[in-house]
Amino acid sequence: MTDRRSGQWVTLADFHSEDEAMRTCLHLAGIAARTDLPVLILGETGTGKSLLARVLHTSSARAQAPFVEFNAAALSDTLLDSQLFGHEKGAFTGADRRVKGKFELADSGTLFLDEIADMSQPAQAKVLRAVEYGEFERLGSEQLQQADVRLISATHLPIIRFLQADHFRKDLFYRISGITLRLPPLRERPRDLRSLMAAEITAASQTMGRAIEGLSRAAAERLIHYDWPGNLRELKRVIHTAVAVTEGTVIEEAAILIEATPGESEPEAVAVRHDEPMENGDLSLRGAERRHVQSVLELFRGNKRRAARALGLSRSTLDRKLAGS
Ligand SMILES: Nc1ncnc2c1ncn2[C@@H]1O[C@H](COP(=O)(O)OP(=O)(O)O)[C@@H](O)[C@H]1O
Ligand SMILES: [Mg+2]
Repeated sequence: MTDRRSGQWVTLADFHSEDEAMRTCLHLAGIAARTDLPVLILGETGTGKSLLARVLHTSSARAQAPFVEFNAAALSDTLLDSQLFGHEKGAFTGADRRVKGKFELADSGTLFLDEIADMSQPAQAKVLRAVEYGEFERLGSEQLQQADVRLISATHLPIIRFLQADHFRKDLFYRISGITLRLPPLRERPRDLRSLMAAEITAASQTMGRAIEGLSRAAAERLIHYDWPGNLRELKRVIHTAVAVTEGTVIEEAAILIEATPGESEPEAVAVRHDEPMENGDLSLRGAERRHVQSVLELFRGNKRRAARALGLSRSTLDRKLAGS
């Protein structure tokens, strides 16, 4: 299959790695591609979850059938319903024709549920039913539809902790995680970093028609000692920019433009206090609420938008509760 952004053909064999955790992941991915089991891909943002999901599909027996992507993080519950299961004409204001949902569109192929840990509890219940029985209804219809889909799911959130905290249904978790693949973060793949850097420089030079030969020692050191919170996505961007701003044939340190961000996917991340114990004797409802709000915020790694959604609060209400008023 082609990586849309680079236009290159990508197969599982292209993911070669010298890192042990990555090799384990790729070995399991090879097995997963030969089965029809549901796959759950875990890994920080930018580690290659979406790319791996596509490659699993194109390496599978379903390769000729559709690969349908669905991002669960971006939608409200009603939109999510009609997107996943489709709707009939007249099902709601503005529904002027019948629309197929993702399950139907993915029939005989692969359905990729991205950011699955962001799904609300009601949405999880509906997805569970659809994956358990292969049955669902379009919005505005009583008629049962059926679809034969292979599920691949992904999340960058700590879904195992979500299970413990009852934010994610255990029954759904067991349904979607026939094989779990863990993509290690780039900072834990020091053996791969140099070859990935070199590959990106070659790719970016080709795309931009430049004749870059490599990095100065200082530039290389800077890249090697950086911790890459945005992983491969950030590496690509940093190198692309470096190639673009380099006038000679060697990338100098000044061309390495790295922002000091806490993590590319979590621009709203804030420092989070740990759960306050009860030892101060605060048994009030308000105290319990504050502790709960803080533990949910921690669960979402300080991302207020997501925490507010899980709590069923608006962003401003969440801010007010955090401020303790
Ligand atoms: N093994 C890899 N080698 C090179 N580039 C990769 C690799 N895995 C992913 N990428 C690239 O890194 C970027 C982020 O990958 P993506 O699959 O979107 O990550 P995620 O879904 O985990 O956020 C994409 O441009 C992708 O093509
Ligand atoms: Mg992705």
